[in-house]
Amino acid sequence: MTTESHTHPTPPLRVCIVGASGKLGQYMIDNALARGYEVTGVCRERSVAKLERFGDRIRILPGHTDDAEVIARAVDGCDGVLTVLAPWGTDDYASGTARAVLEHTRHGARLVFSCGWHITRDGKDRYTRKLRAFVAVFGFLARVARIADLDDQVRACRLIFDSDTSWTVVRGSDLEEGPAEGLPIWREHVGDPALADNLTRRIDFADFMVHALTDDALVRRAPAIVGCRTQSALAHAEPTSA
Ligand SMILES: NC(=O)c1ccc[n+]([C@@H]2O[C@H](COP(=O)([O-])OP(=O)(O)OC[C@H]3O[C@@H](n4cnc5c(N)ncnc54)[C@H](OP(=O)(O)O)[C@@H]3O)[C@@H](O)[C@H]2O)c1
Repeated sequence: MTTESHTHPTPPLRVCIVGASGKLGQYMIDNALARGYEVTGVCRERSVAKLERFGDRIRILPGHTDDAEVIARAVDGCDGVLTVLAPWGTDDYASGTARAVLEHTRHGARLVFSCGWHITRDGKDRYTRKLRAFVAVFGFLARVARIADLDDQVRACRLIFDSDTSWTVVRGSDLEEGPAEGLPIWREHVGDPALADNLTRRIDFADFMVHALTDDALVRRAPAIVGCRTQSALAHAEPTSA
């Protein structure tokens, strides 16, 4: 016997993806659409063509992601915003993007940002000499060549950590392409032995970003992630404490 239900179906989450045309952004679009979410993407005008394959399944607002006016329109009515924080350029693009998202999204919406392990929230991350050397050398060369400014990403994350929004900063390990392996595991600090292999599939990074929208245990946390099939993750598979 069936019982009549008077509950209404939950409307799909409305999400905005800021930096939608990059590799991570496109994986996040696929993932969000597969979950039945309504997706708005923001990307530079010159990159709109990269999103052609999505057709009318997403709404696209062309514009620079640090343009407050574009962001205000894109995030209007959204339940969650997924933002790719990239250090490209030397014009405070990452911190301008973070500021625009923080200031224009309605209070209570879930804000999820991507960055790398080199970002530390509380200074308690323990980095290998190799990672420290890479950040120092890449950071210096990229700044001199005016290609990127790693400190801009640091400033962007400081703005997020100091905000009273419902943020999550997902800190990615080194990335590789390949089929999905499953939701990455996470730890509070780099240096945890579970993260030692320092490798995540980009498609799984995207899955973690979209997953974070609905995981309250990740609010105001900066999880450092690694692939769930890496040796280090499998060897230290205890559940993550919330
Ligand atoms: N790559 C890694 O190994 C790695 C490791 C750890 C963490 N992460 C993190 O993962 C996230 C995605 O990284 P990804 O390497 O996979 O890159 P990605 O997804 O391809 O994204 C790069 C983003 O930067 C934009 N961009 C590129 N050049 C730009 C420029 N000159 N000015 C302004 N915007 C520009 C791209 O927009 P267009 O499409 O318009 O070019 C795109 O939105 C980032 O948050 C990164 O910090 C990456």
